[in-house]
Amino acid sequence: MSTTSESVKGTRRSFLRTAGALGTGLYLSGLATVKRVVRAQTKTEALALNGGPKAVTQASANSQKWPLYGDEEIQAVTELLRNPNYTPVAEFEDAWKAYHGCKYAKAHCNGTSALTSMMFALDLPPGSEVLVPDYSTWFPLVPMRFFDLVPVFVDVNPKTMNLDVEDCKRRLTKNTRAIMPVHWYGLPCDMDDLCAFAKEHGLDVVEDCSHAHGARVKDTLVGNWGRMAGFSLQSTKPLPAIEGGIGMYKEVRDYERATAYGNYDLPGTFADDSPYKKFQGTAFGGKLRIHPVAAILARLQIKKLDAMNAAGVAQVKRLNERITQLPGVAEQFVRPDIKRVFYAKNIIFIDEKQAGMSRTAAVKALAAEGVEAAEYSLKLQHDYPIYGDEKWWRHMPVLPAPGSMPGCDEANRKAVLLPYFTSEQPELIEQYGKAFEKVWAHRDAIAKT
Ligand SMILES: Cc1ncc(COP(=O)(O)O)c(C=O)c1O
Repeated sequence: MSTTSESVKGTRRSFLRTAGALGTGLYLSGLATVKRVVRAQTKTEALALNGGPKAVTQASANSQKWPLYGDEEIQAVTELLRNPNYTPVAEFEDAWKAYHGCKYAKAHCNGTSALTSMMFALDLPPGSEVLVPDYSTWFPLVPMRFFDLVPVFVDVNPKTMNLDVEDCKRRLTKNTRAIMPVHWYGLPCDMDDLCAFAKEHGLDVVEDCSHAHGARVKDTLVGNWGRMAGFSLQSTKPLPAIEGGIGMYKEVRDYERATAYGNYDLPGTFADDSPYKKFQGTAFGGKLRIHPVAAILARLQIKKLDAMNAAGVAQVKRLNERITQLPGVAEQFVRPDIKRVFYAKNIIFIDEKQAGMSRTAAVKALAAEGVEAAEYSLKLQHDYPIYGDEKWWRHMPVLPAPGSMPGCDEANRKAVLLPYFTSEQPELIEQYGKAFEKVWAHRDAIAKT
């Protein structure tokens, strides 16, 4: 066993163990005292920007290590190398279906191929419009051009960074056929409201769950709300297989059609009455099968998903509960009946007016204290050249009028990325809290610089 796998295992174990204890009264009882002492100190200490001591001194070399694989994964992959075969693919799909309580799932070589197969499965007439968040990624959007679907960019709620249902209503036309919510950075969309809206207007709901494995809305797992859902299993994701993806389906015909798109060898396994059975031997769009190594990793990670999510959420909560006490600091708004997870980063917002200093100045002062903070301004999807170039589309995407994405703009003005620590880091969390309090104690001076 390598030293690395030993230490990863130890780190993960203690992460899962301490998340329970520290997340409860034990931590909270000491919080008030710690806060008082820290506040007194932070006022008198000079900013690191001005030559004072750094608030963050804890080394953080492995604190964001991800994925966390251990002996179980190493042994299972080694066994595959001794006896190469494809059985891990079906085993992973079965584990996925059991976890989600869903009927049909097909694993793919990445999330993009899962989502592309779903676009094919939708089987919508050319020119059908799909409402998509502008604050998003190209992966499920550009492939729409293969199926003559039309992305229609919609604004997001700046407090959640997720699809704004009110703006969906404004962008409806007689051609709107589907809606694709993306659960941004692990925070689920308001799926009950979106599904009610979709039902009212006869729209199909296709979820992009690539950031939110294991998150829930009203106790229902994301992926179970829509007609279909796609997930990336790429390295940074909450359920990492290094590279991989999976689609899940409620209807057998959707599953068959999506599967036939990228698997030339599977239509023959469909029931005799399947319209896709005869297409055994050719696929419709490519060869999009998952690698068995990725399938092994994903199957083993599912067993740990809930515990890893819970530990990560508990740790972020400890930091965010503290720093959101400061004027102008907020986190992504989470409804009480939504159970979020985290993916890659902890996003916070800085409201410059309330904070009394600019986001840029605050981030600079935090960085000097040793906080890994970065201003976050995402290039909106509609600003990428491909969506405006007629050469690539038979039915052009619907681009928003200038200035009609106030939610996206506000998110881009306020968002700051903080690290998502993937192992238990009580000292680092304490020092991050102290760094924020110190910077905010000096905010009047910072504003003048
Ligand atoms: C929101 C979202 N959807 C889809 C994908 C595509 O997944 P993959 O990289 O596995 O193809 C990603 C990848 O980062 C993503 O962030």
